[in-house]
Amino acid sequence: MAGYLVEDARKVTTHRLQEMKQQGKKIAMLTSYDFTTAKIVDSAGVDIILVGDSASNVMAGNHTTLPITLDQMIYHARSVARGVKRAHVVCDMPFGTYQVNATEGVRNAIRIMQETGCDSLKLEGGEEILPTVQRILEAGIPVMGHLGLTPQSINKFGTYAVRAKAEAEAEKLIHDAKLLAQAGCFAIVLEKIPATLTQRVVQAVSVPIIGIGAGPADGQVLVIDDMLGKNKDFSPKFLRRYADLHTIMTDAIGCYVSDVKDCQFPTAEESY
Ligand code: KIV
Repeated sequence: MAGYLVEDARKVTTHRLQEMKQQGKKIAMLTSYDFTTAKIVDSAGVDIILVGDSASNVMAGNHTTLPITLDQMIYHARSVARGVKRAHVVCDMPFGTYQVNATEGVRNAIRIMQETGCDSLKLEGGEEILPTVQRILEAGIPVMGHLGLTPQSINKFGTYAVRAKAEAEAEKLIHDAKLLAQAGCFAIVLEKIPATLTQRVVQAVSVPIIGIGAGPADGQVLVIDDMLGKNKDFSPKFLRRYADLHTIMTDAIGCYVSDVKDCQFPTAEESY
Protein backbone atom coordinates (compact mmCIF):
# COMPACT_ATOMS: atom_id res chain seq x y z
CA MET A 1 0.00 0.00 0.00
CA ALA A 2 1.31 3.47 -0.89
CA GLY A 3 2.16 5.59 2.11
CA TYR A 4 4.60 7.97 3.67
CA LEU A 5 7.28 6.89 6.13
CA VAL A 6 7.60 9.45 8.93
CA GLU A 7 11.32 10.04 9.53
CA ASP A 8 10.90 11.89 12.82
CA ALA A 9 8.20 10.75 15.24
CA ARG A 10 8.68 13.69 17.62
CA LYS A 11 5.81 16.15 18.12
CA VAL A 12 5.78 18.81 15.38
CA THR A 13 6.41 22.20 16.98
CA THR A 14 6.35 25.69 15.48
CA HIS A 15 10.16 25.60 15.76
CA ARG A 16 10.34 22.43 13.63
CA LEU A 17 8.02 23.93 11.04
CA GLN A 18 10.41 26.89 10.76
CA GLU A 19 13.32 24.45 10.34
CA MET A 20 11.41 22.63 7.60
CA LYS A 21 11.12 25.87 5.61
CA GLN A 22 14.82 26.61 6.08
CA GLN A 23 15.75 23.08 4.99
CA GLY A 24 13.38 23.14 2.00
CA LYS A 25 11.29 20.26 3.44
CA LYS A 26 7.65 20.54 2.40
CA ILE A 27 4.88 20.69 5.02
CA ALA A 28 1.76 18.51 4.60
CA MET A 29 -1.38 19.86 6.29
CA LEU A 30 -4.97 18.52 6.28
CA THR A 31 -8.13 19.35 8.15
CA SER A 32 -9.82 17.03 10.65
CA TYR A 33 -12.90 17.51 12.77
CA ASP A 34 -13.20 14.30 14.81
CA PHE A 35 -11.13 11.92 16.94
CA THR A 36 -11.11 8.86 14.65
CA THR A 37 -10.16 10.78 11.50
CA ALA A 38 -7.51 12.80 13.33
CA LYS A 39 -5.90 9.56 14.56
CA ILE A 40 -5.64 8.25 10.98
CA VAL A 41 -4.41 11.58 9.60
CA ASP A 42 -1.76 11.81 12.32
CA SER A 43 -0.49 8.26 11.86
CA ALA A 44 -0.29 8.76 8.07
CA GLY A 45 2.39 11.42 8.59
CA VAL A 46 0.59 14.74 8.18
CA ASP A 47 2.63 17.53 9.83
CA ILE A 48 -0.18 19.98 10.70
CA ILE A 49 -3.82 19.13 11.40
CA LEU A 50 -6.20 22.07 11.03
CA VAL A 51 -9.46 22.01 12.92
CA GLY A 52 -10.91 24.27 10.27
CA ASP A 53 -14.07 26.29 10.55
CA SER A 54 -14.82 24.49 7.27
CA ALA A 55 -16.45 22.12 9.79
CA SER A 56 -19.38 24.50 9.34
CA ASN A 57 -19.69 23.38 5.69
CA VAL A 58 -18.39 19.82 5.89
CA MET A 59 -19.83 18.66 9.22
CA ALA A 60 -22.95 20.81 9.53
CA GLY A 61 -23.93 21.44 5.88
CA ASN A 62 -23.92 25.24 6.12
CA HIS A 63 -23.20 27.27 2.97
CA THR A 64 -20.51 29.36 4.70
CA THR A 65 -18.15 29.18 7.67
CA LEU A 66 -19.96 32.01 9.45
CA PRO A 67 -22.53 30.08 11.52
CA ILE A 68 -20.13 27.83 13.44
CA THR A 69 -19.83 28.88 17.09
CA LEU A 70 -16.96 28.99 19.55
CA ASP A 71 -18.49 26.11 21.55
CA GLN A 72 -18.84 23.99 18.41
CA MET A 73 -15.22 24.66 17.36
CA ILE A 74 -14.06 23.77 20.88
CA TYR A 75 -15.96 20.45 20.65
CA HIS A 76 -14.31 19.58 17.32
CA ALA A 77 -10.85 20.76 18.39
CA ARG A 78 -10.93 18.82 21.66
CA SER A 79 -11.96 15.65 19.81
CA VAL A 80 -9.13 16.09 17.28
CA ALA A 81 -6.45 16.92 19.86
CA ARG A 82 -7.28 13.73 21.78
CA GLY A 83 -6.49 11.63 18.69
CA VAL A 84 -3.15 13.23 17.78
CA LYS A 85 0.35 12.34 18.97
CA ARG A 86 2.75 13.80 16.40
CA ALA A 87 1.10 16.47 14.25
CA HIS A 88 0.87 20.13 15.23
CA VAL A 89 -2.84 20.86 15.86
CA VAL A 90 -4.09 24.31 14.89
CA CYS A 91 -7.66 25.46 15.49
CA ASP A 92 -9.50 28.15 13.53
CA MET A 93 -10.91 31.00 15.62
CA PRO A 94 -14.48 31.15 14.32
CA PHE A 95 -16.16 34.23 12.86
CA GLY A 96 -17.10 36.82 15.48
CA THR A 97 -14.70 35.65 18.17
CA TYR A 98 -11.78 37.99 17.37
CA GLN A 99 -13.12 40.78 15.13
CA VAL A 100 -14.78 42.93 17.83
CA ASN A 101 -11.62 43.94 19.69
CA ALA A 102 -8.27 42.60 20.87
CA THR A 103 -9.43 41.99 24.46
CA GLU A 104 -12.31 39.80 23.35
CA GLY A 105 -10.03 38.07 20.85
CA VAL A 106 -7.40 37.17 23.41
CA ARG A 107 -10.08 36.00 25.89
CA ASN A 108 -11.60 33.66 23.30
CA ALA A 109 -8.14 32.51 22.21
CA ILE A 110 -7.27 31.57 25.80
CA ARG A 111 -10.56 29.70 26.12
CA ILE A 112 -9.85 27.59 23.02
CA MET A 113 -6.34 26.77 24.21
CA GLN A 114 -7.50 25.88 27.75
CA GLU A 115 -10.43 23.73 26.70
CA THR A 116 -9.08 21.88 23.65
CA GLY A 117 -5.42 20.92 24.00
CA CYS A 118 -4.64 22.44 20.58
CA ASP A 119 -1.15 23.77 19.85
CA SER A 120 -2.04 27.02 18.08
CA LEU A 121 -4.78 29.15 16.51
CA LYS A 122 -5.49 30.43 12.98
CA LEU A 123 -7.05 33.84 12.30
CA GLU A 124 -8.15 35.29 8.96
CA GLY A 125 -6.94 38.75 7.93
CA GLY A 126 -3.95 41.09 7.80
CA GLU A 127 -3.28 44.61 9.08
CA GLU A 128 -6.88 45.09 10.29
CA ILE A 129 -6.53 42.29 12.88
CA LEU A 130 -2.86 42.92 13.72
CA PRO A 131 -3.48 44.34 17.26
CA THR A 132 -5.49 41.22 18.12
CA VAL A 133 -2.84 38.91 16.66
CA GLN A 134 -0.19 40.74 18.73
CA ARG A 135 -2.21 40.38 21.95
CA ILE A 136 -2.77 36.66 21.36
CA LEU A 137 0.94 36.18 20.65
CA GLU A 138 1.77 38.14 23.83
CA ALA A 139 -0.42 35.69 25.75
CA GLY A 140 1.96 32.95 24.60
CA ILE A 141 -0.32 31.45 21.97
CA PRO A 142 1.20 30.65 18.55
CA VAL A 143 -0.76 32.16 15.65
CA MET A 144 -1.08 31.06 12.02
CA GLY A 145 -2.22 33.76 9.57
CA HIS A 146 -4.65 33.31 6.68
CA LEU A 147 -4.66 35.67 3.65
CA GLY A 148 -6.08 35.72 0.13
CA LEU A 149 -9.55 34.20 -0.02
CA THR A 150 -10.67 34.43 3.59
CA PRO A 151 -14.02 32.59 3.76
CA GLN A 152 -15.21 34.45 6.89
CA SER A 153 -15.36 37.58 4.66
CA ILE A 154 -17.30 35.90 1.85
CA ASN A 155 -20.19 38.33 2.22
CA LYS A 156 -17.80 41.23 1.58
CA PHE A 157 -16.12 39.53 -1.44
CA GLY A 158 -19.43 38.22 -2.84
CA THR A 159 -17.63 35.36 -4.63
CA TYR A 160 -15.20 32.46 -4.07
CA ALA A 161 -13.18 33.50 -7.17
CA VAL A 162 -9.36 33.78 -7.16
CA ARG A 163 -8.17 36.77 -5.08
CA ALA A 164 -5.38 39.32 -5.60
CA LYS A 165 -5.13 39.11 -9.38
CA ALA A 166 -4.74 42.90 -9.56
CA GLU A 167 -1.38 44.34 -8.51
CA ALA A 168 -2.83 46.64 -5.83
CA GLU A 169 -4.44 43.72 -3.98
CA ALA A 170 -1.31 41.61 -4.51
CA GLU A 171 0.85 44.32 -2.93
CA LYS A 172 -1.53 44.64 0.04
CA LEU A 173 -1.35 40.86 0.52
CA ILE A 174 2.48 40.91 0.54
CA HIS A 175 2.40 43.84 2.97
CA ASP A 176 -0.02 41.93 5.25
CA ALA A 177 2.11 38.77 5.10
CA LYS A 178 5.19 40.75 6.12
CA LEU A 179 3.30 42.36 9.04
CA LEU A 180 2.01 38.98 10.28
CA ALA A 181 5.47 37.41 10.02
CA GLN A 182 7.14 40.37 11.77
CA ALA A 183 4.52 40.20 14.54
CA GLY A 184 5.55 36.59 15.17
CA CYS A 185 3.02 34.38 13.33
CA PHE A 186 4.65 30.99 12.84
CA ALA A 187 3.09 30.29 9.40
CA ILE A 188 0.60 31.78 6.95
CA VAL A 189 -2.07 30.07 4.84
CA LEU A 190 -2.61 31.60 1.39
CA GLU A 191 -5.93 30.63 -0.16
CA LYS A 192 -6.87 30.85 -3.84
CA ILE A 193 -4.40 33.38 -5.22
CA PRO A 194 -2.20 33.28 -8.35
CA ALA A 195 0.83 30.95 -8.07
CA THR A 196 3.20 33.79 -9.05
CA LEU A 197 2.00 35.85 -6.07
CA THR A 198 2.50 32.89 -3.73
CA GLN A 199 6.13 32.70 -4.90
CA ARG A 200 6.59 36.40 -4.14
CA VAL A 201 5.28 35.84 -0.58
CA VAL A 202 7.42 32.70 -0.09
CA GLN A 203 10.48 34.83 -0.96
CA ALA A 204 9.36 37.88 1.04
CA VAL A 205 8.80 36.23 4.45
CA SER A 206 10.85 33.74 6.45
CA VAL A 207 7.89 31.82 7.95
CA PRO A 208 6.34 28.80 6.18
CA ILE A 209 3.67 29.61 3.59
CA ILE A 210 0.98 26.95 3.26
CA GLY A 211 -1.07 27.08 0.06
CA ILE A 212 -4.58 26.00 -0.89
CA GLY A 213 -5.40 26.77 -4.50
CA ALA A 214 -2.29 28.96 -4.46
CA GLY A 215 0.22 26.83 -6.39
CA PRO A 216 3.51 25.49 -4.97
CA ALA A 217 4.53 26.88 -1.55
CA ASP A 218 6.38 25.71 1.58
CA GLY A 219 3.44 23.39 2.23
CA GLN A 220 -0.08 22.52 1.16
CA VAL A 221 -3.43 22.15 2.93
CA LEU A 222 -6.66 20.51 1.76
CA VAL A 223 -9.99 19.82 3.40
CA ILE A 224 -9.98 16.11 4.25
CA ASP A 225 -13.50 15.32 3.03
CA ASP A 226 -12.70 16.96 -0.33
CA MET A 227 -9.39 15.15 -0.93
CA LEU A 228 -10.91 11.82 0.07
CA GLY A 229 -13.69 12.35 -2.48
CA LYS A 230 -16.61 12.26 -0.05
CA ASN A 231 -18.29 15.21 -1.74
CA LYS A 232 -18.99 14.90 -5.47
CA ASP A 233 -20.48 18.40 -5.74
CA PHE A 234 -17.27 20.35 -4.98
CA SER A 235 -14.67 20.18 -7.79
CA PRO A 236 -12.50 23.31 -7.88
CA LYS A 237 -9.43 23.21 -10.17
CA PHE A 238 -7.01 23.07 -7.21
CA LEU A 239 -8.56 19.98 -5.63
CA ARG A 240 -6.81 16.64 -6.16
CA ARG A 241 -8.93 13.68 -5.06
CA TYR A 242 -6.86 10.86 -3.56
CA ALA A 243 -9.80 8.50 -3.08
CA ASP A 244 -13.42 8.10 -4.07
CA LEU A 245 -14.96 7.62 -0.64
CA HIS A 246 -18.35 8.66 -1.96
CA THR A 247 -18.47 5.53 -4.14
CA ILE A 248 -16.73 3.29 -1.58
CA MET A 249 -19.13 4.33 1.20
CA THR A 250 -22.24 4.16 -0.99
CA ASP A 251 -21.30 0.66 -2.17
CA ALA A 252 -20.49 -0.55 1.34
CA ILE A 253 -23.69 0.86 2.81
CA GLY A 254 -25.69 -0.58 -0.08
CA CYS A 255 -24.21 -4.05 0.63
CA TYR A 256 -25.12 -3.72 4.31
CA VAL A 257 -28.70 -2.73 3.48
CA SER A 258 -29.03 -5.72 1.11
CA ASP A 259 -27.56 -8.11 3.71
CA VAL A 260 -29.99 -6.92 6.40
CA LYS A 261 -33.01 -7.10 4.09
CA ASP A 262 -31.97 -10.54 2.71
CA CYS A 263 -31.35 -11.89 6.25
CA GLN A 264 -27.64 -12.38 5.37
CA PHE A 265 -26.54 -10.34 8.38
CA PRO A 266 -25.95 -11.30 11.14
CA THR A 267 -24.85 -14.94 10.70
CA ALA A 268 -24.52 -17.46 13.54
CA GLU A 269 -20.80 -16.55 13.77
CA GLU A 270 -21.73 -12.92 14.27
CA SER A 271 -24.25 -13.72 17.01
CA TYR A 272 -23.80 -14.45 20.76
O1 KIV B 1 -11.34 26.04 7.49
C1 KIV B 1 -10.54 25.54 6.69
O2 KIV B 1 -10.64 24.36 6.31
C2 KIV B 1 -9.46 26.37 6.19
C3 KIV B 1 -8.64 25.83 5.06
C4 KIV B 1 -9.39 25.96 3.80
C5 KIV B 1 -7.31 26.46 5.00
O3 KIV B 1 -9.27 27.45 6.66
